[in-house]
This record gives sequence, C-alpha cells and structure tokens, in this order.
Amino acid sequence: MRALLVGCGGISRAWLRSVMQMPDVEIVALVDIRPEAAQSLAQEFGLEAVPTGTDLERMLEQTAPEAVFNCTVPEAHAAVALTALRHGCHVLSEKPLAHSLEDATRMVAAAEAAGRILAVIQNRRYDARIRRLRHFVASGALGPITTVNCDFFIGAHFGGFRDHMEHVLLLDMAIHTFDQARFLTSADPVSVYCHEWNPAGSWYDRDASAVAIFEMSGGIVFTYRGSWCAEGLNTTWEGDWRIICERGTVSWDGADGFKAQAVAATGTFLSQLQEVAVPACDPGDRIGGHAGNIREFVRCVREGGIPETVASDNVKSLAMVFAAIESAREGKRVQVRI
Ligand SMILES: NC(=O)c1ccc[n+]([C@@H]2O[C@H](COP(=O)([O-])OP(=O)(O)OC[C@H]3O[C@@H](n4cnc5c(N)ncnc54)[C@H](O)[C@@H]3O)[C@@H](O)[C@H]2O)c1
Repeated sequence: MRALLVGCGGISRAWLRSVMQMPDVEIVALVDIRPEAAQSLAQEFGLEAVPTGTDLERMLEQTAPEAVFNCTVPEAHAAVALTALRHGCHVLSEKPLAHSLEDATRMVAAAEAAGRILAVIQNRRYDARIRRLRHFVASGALGPITTVNCDFFIGAHFGGFRDHMEHVLLLDMAIHTFDQARFLTSADPVSVYCHEWNPAGSWYDRDASAVAIFEMSGGIVFTYRGSWCAEGLNTTWEGDWRIICERGTVSWDGADGFKAQAVAATGTFLSQLQEVAVPACDPGDRIGGHAGNIREFVRCVREGGIPETVASDNVKSLAMVFAAIESAREGKRVQVRI
C-alpha cells in the first residue's frame, strides 16, 4: 500500500517505527507545513529518497498514494482528511477524529460518498490485556454489566500545545478512555453529566481534571475520574478499571493486574464470593498499539473489510467527549448526540 504521511511531529515517529516493520507498506511522501519537520523525519528513518513538501494537494497529485496517514494536530484533521478523500485516498487519522462534531460528521459523509475508508487510531484498544478483559466480561462469567468505573490520574508535564489547550484532558486524552469504555461494554452513550476544572497548583492554563457520569445503553453507568495534573500514585495510561456485573466484579489496573470475584452463594447479608481467574485469550493480531491499528487498516484497504475504528463508529466516542464538554460548560446533564 502506497501511503503519504502528513504531520511530521512527535507521534509520526511511532507510526513510522510500526510501518517500517510492514513490508506491504511504502511511504511515498512526507508532508508538513514546517519543511524542516518533514526533512528531519525523512533523515531519521532513512527515507531521504522520499519526496517531502509543505503543500498536501500538490504532493497528492505528484505521488498519487492509495492512503494518507494523518498525524497532524487535531485542528487540521478535518481539512487534511477531506483533501485526501477528494483525491480518492483512504485515510487513517490520529485521534481525535476531528476538532468538532460537525467536522467529524462532514468527514464521515465524505468518506461514504468517496467509497473510501476513514479510520482513527485508538491504540489503547489494540492491547492484548484489554482484549482479555473484554473477552472475559463478554463471556458472561459474571453476568451482564451494570456499572463501569475508570480512574485516570497522571502528572504529565508535557510542555507545548497541551499546556494552553482548552478542555485538554477531555479532548486530548479522555477520548481514549471513553472509546475503551465503549469497547468494553459494547454499549452506546446516552447522556452525561460532567464537571471539569483546573486544580490549584496546576501547571496547565485550564481544564486539567474532569469527572463524568455517563448513562450508556442497556442502563449501564460509566463513571470517569481523570486528571493530567495529579502528582503521586499515578494510574497507568490505560486507566484503572472496575466492571461490576450482576453476579460479580472484575478489576484491571491497565497493566497485568486482573482480579475477579463471582457470587458463589447468596441469601446472607454479604454474599459468599469466590475468586475467578480471568483467562488468557487469543487476541489475534489486533494488538501492539499503533502497529496493530495500522495493520488492520492496511489489511482492510488491501483485502476489503471495515476496521474496528472506522470513523462512522468512532464518532460515537468523539460525541462522548463533546457532550462532556457541553455538560461541563452548562453545568447540567446533556444527551449525547450520535
Ligand atoms: N494515539 C496516541 O497515543 C497519541 C499520542 C500523542 C499524540 N497523538 C495525536 O497525534 C496528533 C499529533 O500530535 P503530536 O504530539 O505529534 O503533535 P506535534 O505538534 O508534535 O506534531 C504535529 C505536526 O503536524 C504539523 N502540522 C500541523 N498542521 C498541519 C497541516 N495542516 N498540514 C501539515 N502538517 C501540519 C505540525 O507542523 C507538526 O509537525 C494529535 O492529534 C494528537 O492528539 C496521539
């Protein structure tokens, strides 16, 4: 698959490290509005023979790729994807799909009209451990899910654009966690109440912490407590999860720590509980973070099929983010528009 990569900043390196291991993908051009960014990326990855440029439209005409890898900043995602689709390319974009729900809707419609795949990197799904957790809850070992909690607490000193960004936690990070919640529950979001704030002593300009309560389809409640400005006792980047089902509970620390208890006997004040193993499962090749996500996209482009993170589905995770932002702004519960 011949691919053009646009946006040669920090995350593009994770993409190229993955793509370099894929013999069926060829990078045919590198584009960035900062010419030096594209040139230094080319040098770093031994791609000196690959053309670099600042004008996406011209580079698309010149190199006619089948796919565009969109690693630009969120504000540029829509314009880049719409241009690429107009040129008949399939697009795999960094999260978040778009900077607004209106843009996301336009992008999904454009992909449909062009008959091309538009998909999003949600690398935290492409993890053998979350697939193991999902497989376990879906097996029904503990009965149907009723409640999902996730804690995300990291003291991240990024520097750069995030320090000044509005809704930085919700827009730049919680998209992962909200998407994980949809993945784990197979449920759709219905409504949300969210409180967003900047804790005293924060090194961000604004919005580094948030607490949100989502109602999901099937009556499931998903609660999120998150901060990028929490020093000490950090969670993993994958989050610290508790999933309560009708007949037991499972927890996952986002790393290798799984615990589960199921009701063995009930009828007393506290039920008798027994430890249950969370069995390993074959996660297939949808693992390895970016590599797994990119691999699936390439396979769908080459052989047909719909990637798990196709934009028409991923827009539901994005809708959770924008509904949480709206709720925080208005100080009331809002419906998630999907
Ligand atoms: N999936 C993940 O785990 C993960 C991790 C980090 C970042 N990201 C996402 O990746 C994207 C980029 O983040 P980053 O940290 O690499 O940012 P960055 O600022 O390091 O890089 C972005 C690059 O895009 C270029 N750019 C901006 N607008 C452009 C345009 N219109 N056309 C061409 N190039 C343009 C910039 O010049 C810059 O070189 C963001 O959407 C971010 O949320 C995802």
